[in-house]
Amino acid sequence: MKKIPITEAAPSALKKKPEPGQQLGFGKIFTDYLFLQDYQKGKGWINPRIEPYRPLSMDPAALVLHYGQEVFEGLKAYRWPNGDIYLFRPRKNFERMNRSAKRLCMPELDVDFVLEAAEQLIRLEKDWVPSTPGSSLYIRPNMIASEPALGVQVADQYLFYIMLGPVGAYYPQGFSPTQIYVSEKYIRAARGGLGEAKTLANYAHSLLAQEEAHEEGYNQVLWLDAIERKYVEEVGTSNIFFYIGDELITPPLAGTILPGITRDSVIHIARSWEMKVSERAISLDEVMKALDTGKLKEAFASGTAAVISPVGKLSYKGKEYPIHQGKVGPLAQKLYDHIIGIQYGKTKDPYGWMEKVS
Ligand SMILES: Cc1ncc(COP(=O)(O)O)c(C=O)c1O
Repeated sequence: MKKIPITEAAPSALKKKPEPGQQLGFGKIFTDYLFLQDYQKGKGWINPRIEPYRPLSMDPAALVLHYGQEVFEGLKAYRWPNGDIYLFRPRKNFERMNRSAKRLCMPELDVDFVLEAAEQLIRLEKDWVPSTPGSSLYIRPNMIASEPALGVQVADQYLFYIMLGPVGAYYPQGFSPTQIYVSEKYIRAARGGLGEAKTLANYAHSLLAQEEAHEEGYNQVLWLDAIERKYVEEVGTSNIFFYIGDELITPPLAGTILPGITRDSVIHIARSWEMKVSERAISLDEVMKALDTGKLKEAFASGTAAVISPVGKLSYKGKEYPIHQGKVGPLAQKLYDHIIGIQYGKTKDPYGWMEKVS
């Protein structure tokens, strides 16, 4: 592919890179450049470019600011011990972004082109990819409706951009189980809604439940289905797995949950280990029964941020239920070690998931 034109930043505008070992946190530090391209109905995607990181200038009437036509993604670049930089199944993110875009009546991207654009941007910013264990370069592609108009309508103009930022290890103090609050009051998504799209409304929608869970001393919310408040859907902004007897169970992709790439990877890996994996509806009653009878061995969440996040405790109807004595279970640990090993180039990648950037 052709080299994307770059507008060079003035040397004095370049930011100071974090020191090795510095606490990076998540989503607080951004690199020096962005990739951007515009969309105009009738012309398609035009004007791809790499420019210095800067505030976006937008008409106050831009449709995204009023009616929320936006989709985004989140993935990471990992530095391997030999210095090379790799992405984990990046095509899946851009394919999912296109499915989200379709749901929001937004234009689809050329997956090969935007993946190559992301790689060119990362190559330019390669010195920002941290090498402290567990750290990575977070990649945030975003698409917004930029057309100025106040009528509720599908926009004719869009902006797509990719921003980058170094992020720290999710578990700087080591792997620790989370405390989960089962939400009966709020729901995350209903069938026919936006649940399976990665779009801003789902996250705005989840904030109040998360705030209330935090106030009660819990890390995340376990979402139940919108109709019966009976079936488990997701946990916080991650997918959920229950290990009951010899079956690893995760809710099916039936329209209300985000089809996580880590979820898909866990399913694939567990099946390759000859485990019984079921994508099926699982009710909280079934989870509670399995807890009672000692059959619930483990529960864990999966997502790009934490990879695997073991659930140590569930709070439901005012009672607390420890899972695996509140400790990290062996399956969660094994999956975490395997996936992290592949991502950081320490374990062989038998699935061909890693894509080299530099
Ligand atoms: C709502 C929601 N569910 C699940 C996930 C996990 O998806 P992935 O494994 O692709 O990061 C995410 C994170 O992107 C999310 O925001």
